[in-house]
Amino acid sequence: MSDNTPSREHWSGALGFILAAAGSAIGLGNIWKFPYITGENGGGAFVLVYLLCIAVIGAPVMICEFTLGRRTQRNPVGAFKALAPKTSVLAHIVGAGVLLAGLFLLLFQSWGWGAVLVGLGLIIFRYGWTTVGAMGVLAGFTILSFYSVVAGWTLGYVWKAAVGQLDFATVDAAKDYFVEFTFNPYWAVGCHFVFVVLCVLIVYRGIKSGIERWSKILMPVLLLILLALIIRSLTLPGAMEGVRFYLTPDFSKINTGTVLTALGHAFFSLSLGMGAMITYGSYISREENLFTSTLSVVALDTLIALMAGLAIFPAVFAQGFQPDAGPGLVFQVLPTVFHQIPLGAFWAFLFFLLLLIAALTSGISLLEVVTAYFVDERGWKRHHAAVVFGGAIFLLGALCAVSVGGISDWTRLETLHEVLLKVFGSTKASFFDTMDNLSTNWFLPLGGLFISVFVGWVWGTKHALDEIRHGSRNFGDVHLVSLLAGLRDDPSHSSGVHALTLASLWGIFIRFISPVAVLIAFLHTIGWLNLTPQAAPAPEPPPIEEAQ
Ligand code: TRP
Repeated sequence: MSDNTPSREHWSGALGFILAAAGSAIGLGNIWKFPYITGENGGGAFVLVYLLCIAVIGAPVMICEFTLGRRTQRNPVGAFKALAPKTSVLAHIVGAGVLLAGLFLLLFQSWGWGAVLVGLGLIIFRYGWTTVGAMGVLAGFTILSFYSVVAGWTLGYVWKAAVGQLDFATVDAAKDYFVEFTFNPYWAVGCHFVFVVLCVLIVYRGIKSGIERWSKILMPVLLLILLALIIRSLTLPGAMEGVRFYLTPDFSKINTGTVLTALGHAFFSLSLGMGAMITYGSYISREENLFTSTLSVVALDTLIALMAGLAIFPAVFAQGFQPDAGPGLVFQVLPTVFHQIPLGAFWAFLFFLLLLIAALTSGISLLEVVTAYFVDERGWKRHHAAVVFGGAIFLLGALCAVSVGGISDWTRLETLHEVLLKVFGSTKASFFDTMDNLSTNWFLPLGGLFISVFVGWVWGTKHALDEIRHGSRNFGDVHLVSLLAGLRDDPSHSSGVHALTLASLWGIFIRFISPVAVLIAFLHTIGWLNLTPQAAPAPEPPPIEEAQ
């Protein structure tokens, strides 16, 4: 709570900051998820929709997060605490609404969710906007718990490839192997443990010599590996069919569901909605240009996702496989693809190493959010916070890891699961899926929604713009039309003529477009708004169901 701004550690410069933020953004989402959802949603057309979501919603919200962080020099909770008004009518209304909804559920004897909502309503009523930051910190726990399980599988596969065990003649054999691997608690929990330890080691060292240093080492390595894989993939005989699938838009595949998937993924991929970018933004100095930094991070993230598709699809098609294998695409189809090409074990090793590096730089950003909160707000030492919460995340993730493999031989967990089922009356989803669902479908969209409403309406675009202009003076003054026309310094603009500027466009996006789009997407995913009446909105299949 003390004002520790003067001693706060900062990135050493723009490059370090951009690479760290890009490291957070580039993760399993780009290399594991983006290719398979593209494969499921019809290739090129989906890619176009995704690019649109990134440009119209992702980038404007990312600027908001960086700005909130840099302005307050705080973690998400501290940032909202510092900028939110003492009493907020909106927060009271929302709090009261949530409270009422909870009472309503209790009336219908839905005890678990009823109690959760009543508690949440009271918290929102009492703490107002700070709740959004707190939700972000909580999301840090829930996301990292399942994220590090998948990262653990990747780590295991790097090892298995190195010792030559990742060699399957058929997809079925690869599938069996994957199931056996992920269902084996020693492997699953063990690899998850090693991954969390790696994250803790980096966050432990702090901003400059931990996160920044490792991002500067790992991001170039990632790019090189990806380039090598693309070259290998594109030079396979028959690769062009994959390229065609990937780059030819088939607009008949586009429907509301596709658009919403693209929007949700844009948020996840850019690490938005939980304050990861607020936290990273809080280590930027005021001389840095937030506008160009945001553009660089967004561009790098998008580039790597597109490149991952280019590494995967040509190889998949060249070897005669289908691109719509879902979450198993990377863990089941690819090992079989590698089997068929010369030096396959080597390429498999490189690929899973790539995936591991991507996951690591994202994992540290999630742990950093939690760590920063306990350091700033609770006065913990960074070392303690990193180790203690790394440990907590390991435990939570261990539950996720074993829940994937069915928990029948874990009697205690079975009981716990039954209790949870009784109280919350939810589906039979595993703990892994629950954490995934809670984070991706609830915390992140709600966080993104409130962040843009907060910047657009409560703190105000005017104050935010003042902050953005430090270090990027012309962000607000560039006339968008002139910029496109290449006439940015035309003297006619100094006469006070009002025109569409980057800043005004951004303000409109933040106040209207992002909140509305995210709200619609959110209501759709939770099933309160059905935009695709012909096909029931299919919730994204969790990895485990593919595995079975
Ligand atoms: N963006 C990462 C990915 O694409 C995941 C991630 C890291 C993330 N930090 C986040 C997602 C914060 C949401 C919020 O894999």
